[in-house]
Amino acid sequence: MVELYSFNINSDLAKEQYNYYKKLVSADKLLQIERFRFEEDRRRSLYGEIMVRRLIRDKFGIDNSLIVFKSNEYGKPYLNGYPQIHFNISHSGTWVIAGIGCHELGVDIEQIGENNEDIAKRFFTEKEYYNLCNKCEKDRAEYFCELWTLKESYIKCIGKGLSIPLNSFGFEIEKNEISFFPSNHNYYFKIHDSLSGYKVAVCSEEEIDNRLQDFSLDL
Ligand SMILES: CC(C)(COP(=O)(O)OP(=O)(O)OC[C@H]1O[C@@H](n2cnc3c(N)ncnc32)[C@H](O)[C@@H]1OP(=O)(O)O)[C@@H](O)C(=O)NCCC(=O)NCCS
Repeated sequence: MVELYSFNINSDLAKEQYNYYKKLVSADKLLQIERFRFEEDRRRSLYGEIMVRRLIRDKFGIDNSLIVFKSNEYGKPYLNGYPQIHFNISHSGTWVIAGIGCHELGVDIEQIGENNEDIAKRFFTEKEYYNLCNKCEKDRAEYFCELWTLKESYIKCIGKGLSIPLNSFGFEIEKNEISFFPSNHNYYFKIHDSLSGYKVAVCSEEEIDNRLQDFSLDL
């Protein structure tokens, strides 16, 4: 079952322990982190990787020194040498989300912004656009964000980036029931809205835990 964790990069511990955690990532990752101009980008990137390293250690008993990440040709990171372990990371604003499981998965978090009908018209399927426009005004921004994160979670699960046309698949959400079309694959989807002002969507080939758990840092 996919488990999901959230971590706030502005927590006191995150700020205090930043230098300690830098020592746990590879030299390449460190270089990538240090290249960011903004401190918040550095923290988002570092803590996403630290979360995954800790989860791999705690759930699968693999020591940090044995954890090597590689990326597929579209940039999706995977754990080298352990094809039975899967994870995915997403960050937005002050939050980082990490999902971990035993089958392919994708996670996405986005801040609920404006209802962007122009973007929906361009990137969503006709049915998704139609359903969005038929929502009452006050619900549209949230519905837009739900569709957007679901689409991203699917793309991230498949791991082929935007080589998959965004209008080649779609979603409908009715009374918290998520329908995926065309439904020729067995994917599980879930939306979490426990982080105020954000939506988190998950897609996986295996069942997804109902909880979005707080990730606690250790030393
Ligand atoms: C990675 C991608 C799939 C999502 O990016 P994003 O939403 O900007 O960023 P997120 O915070 O959700 O995810 C970033 C993380 O995903 C992972 N990732 C990178 N490439 C990935 C890929 N091809 N597949 C899955 N995960 C990927 C990495 O862990 C990355 O973390 P890092 O930046 O710290 O290394 C992006 O490359 C992309 O193609 N986005 C599509 C944008 C779009 O138009 N969406 C429309 C939806 S309707």
